[in-house]
Amino acid sequence: MPLSSGMQVPLLDLKPQYQSLKAEILPRLEALFESQDLVLGETVGRFERTVCGFTGAAHAIGMSSGTDAILAVLMALEIGPDDAVLTTPYTFFATSGCIARVGAEPVFVDIDPDTANLCASRLADFVKTRCTRSAEGVLRAPSGRRIKAVMPVHLYGLCCELDDVAQVARENGLPLIEDAAQALGSVYPGREGALHHAGAYGEFGCYSFYPTKNLGGFGDGGMVVCRDAAMAAKLRAIRNHGMEDRYYHKIVGGNFRLDGIQAAVLEIKLRHLDAWSAARRANAAIYREILDGIATLPSEPYAARTADPRHHIFNQFVIRTPHRDALMEHLRSREIGCAIYYPLPLHRQDCFAALGYQEGDFPVAEQWARESLALPIFPELGEHRVRHAAETIAAFRAE
Ligand SMILES: Cc1ncc(COP(=O)(O)O)c(C=O)c1O
Repeated sequence: MPLSSGMQVPLLDLKPQYQSLKAEILPRLEALFESQDLVLGETVGRFERTVCGFTGAAHAIGMSSGTDAILAVLMALEIGPDDAVLTTPYTFFATSGCIARVGAEPVFVDIDPDTANLCASRLADFVKTRCTRSAEGVLRAPSGRRIKAVMPVHLYGLCCELDDVAQVARENGLPLIEDAAQALGSVYPGREGALHHAGAYGEFGCYSFYPTKNLGGFGDGGMVVCRDAAMAAKLRAIRNHGMEDRYYHKIVGGNFRLDGIQAAVLEIKLRHLDAWSAARRANAAIYREILDGIATLPSEPYAARTADPRHHIFNQFVIRTPHRDALMEHLRSREIGCAIYYPLPLHRQDCFAALGYQEGDFPVAEQWARESLALPIFPELGEHRVRHAAETIAAFRAE
């Protein structure tokens, strides 16, 4: 029986955001329908230019999802069955799923205990001690496959330590593919003082506009940003069956096209993204005030390096506690939404059994999988409901 106080706190509710933008969005969609600019086209082109302006990226290519954005980048780099990509075992499946889909091997390196992002020092150490380099300079994974890229993830809206991860990539001549699916709108303060938008630091960045993301569309959507004009042209071809001239295919691509409805909605929503990130941070501050000392709270490693509040944009607010499962039960019985991102690290997934990883290979990722719990953090939540959620957690400890 639910022990309800009468106040429900959903993990996520997208309706208030829609209500607040309805007067802007509906006429825009009506104009789009009148113009029938439905797939790619001017609406998508304008949104791509807007994302370039927002992030500072040189090129932006709209894609049908964040997954397809990652897949298209791997295809553009011609990564295939003889190859491997260095990445994190603790993320949404798409990151390594795409590596496997092009036939390559995801090679996992454990995460940073504080942030859950790919750990740069473990990455450097792995390359130095576990990989081999041929006389021609080819870097090989322990399996013998050629390492072709490094793909960190900016988990929960916090960039990984990009300067350090990029240094490992650079030293080994590898392109850096940022999986920024959860992080559009967050910034990384480089140690040299420059501020970088998530996704716009490396050679490639991939965004997801899945509705639960900080910038979410009315369905699936994604984007690649990249530095190089020739790569951008190749990605544009890949998203449309490898065509540059209609019905002439120099390379094999897919249907990874973004539609006009998503682009029109996302362009309107992008104007509000920074304000939504600020609202998420305000919610996070309430959790911090009430839960200090009660659970392990998300770390903000760049707070001392920048005054820009977007150094963490809290796509998720994830706490950790050894009593996670009991806490989850406690919250659910009191109608407070929560979720586990992610319960099983990728090296332990059945589909990757052939890679030969064992329990214990990535103890930090495994511990996060056992202890993490995401709490409601969406911008429209409001102080009252955040306080209620936080106090319910605090009460659990007292029981
Ligand atoms: C880290 C990460 N990578 C990739 C994706 C894939 O994005 P999409 O759901 O738009 O395909 C997601 C989104 O769920 C994600 O969180």
